[in-house]
Amino acid sequence: MKKLILTLAVAFSAMAINAKTLVVYYSFTNNVHTIVSDLQVQTGADVVRIEPAEEGLDYAANNYAIGSALISAIRNNPDEASSYPEIKPVDVDLDEYDMVIVAAPLWWSNMAAPMQTYLFHNGTQMAGKKIGLIISSASSGISGVESDAKRLIPDGDFLTPSLWIRSSQTSNCHSMISDWLDQIDYNGIASGVESITADKAVRMSVTANAIHVDGAFDLFELYNLSGHKMLESSDNTIGISALTPGIYIARINNNKSVSEKIIITKQ
Ligand SMILES: Cc1cc2nc3c(=O)[nH]c(=O)nc-3n(C[C@H](O)[C@H](O)[C@H](O)COP(=O)(O)O)c2cc1C
Repeated sequence: MKKLILTLAVAFSAMAINAKTLVVYYSFTNNVHTIVSDLQVQTGADVVRIEPAEEGLDYAANNYAIGSALISAIRNNPDEASSYPEIKPVDVDLDEYDMVIVAAPLWWSNMAAPMQTYLFHNGTQMAGKKIGLIISSASSGISGVESDAKRLIPDGDFLTPSLWIRSSQTSNCHSMISDWLDQIDYNGIASGVESITADKAVRMSVTANAIHVDGAFDLFELYNLSGHKMLESSDNTIGISALTPGIYIARINNNKSVSEKIIITKQ
């Protein structure tokens, strides 16, 4: 019992510093900010906002002159760092995240320039991660922004479809976001396993309905955070449809014991 309490304490500390989904966004007139605020409530994801280094610029003034010039500079020379407007430092460790949702306004058929700056410098660190895209525009279609995202995150595992919310739909974005999360199977993606003990000979993964264990073992046990055993099995695939969403601790016994934090968000 003493050992289990210790394991749970480790799990809680891991929870405090780790989240699986990051939302990174830019917003000039706060439509995307409104969308991301709703998204944050629906997902509990960590959120970081990109801010241009130069404050107070009106990108829309004089028929969008500044915004237009920024986009032209990137279009003319997309591989040059100097083409991208400077942004304030962003304090986030992408290694902590398996999924990144990028949310940005459309500017002249492209992704808003400050968001492009962040991805230009950090997109390669998103290789292999699930990438979701949310785009706000007044009316223009979003294929150019999707192309920008794919250019700037060349090895991202893009989820389809992207979510396009027109400016006029911002105040009703809640149901659009909820439907989109279902479409991309967000809950299935966000269910997962987080290692508590580094040294392990078996690996676990979680899908919507089951926990899968790779490798030989004697006994699999799953505890809830009150320390009650919820499941016990010696099979490599363990059904979880009877479990309510939440955080569990899995223990596997072979020649030594291995513990993992399991997050189940939906059966
Ligand atoms: C510089 C600039 C260029 C824009 N270009 C377009 C455009 O070509 N097509 C369009 O539908 N909306 C365009 N918009 C409108 C924004 O995409 C739209 O208002 C969006 O909702 C803004 O999001 P935000 O409030 O988060 O900044 C532009 C806005 C700015 C500031």
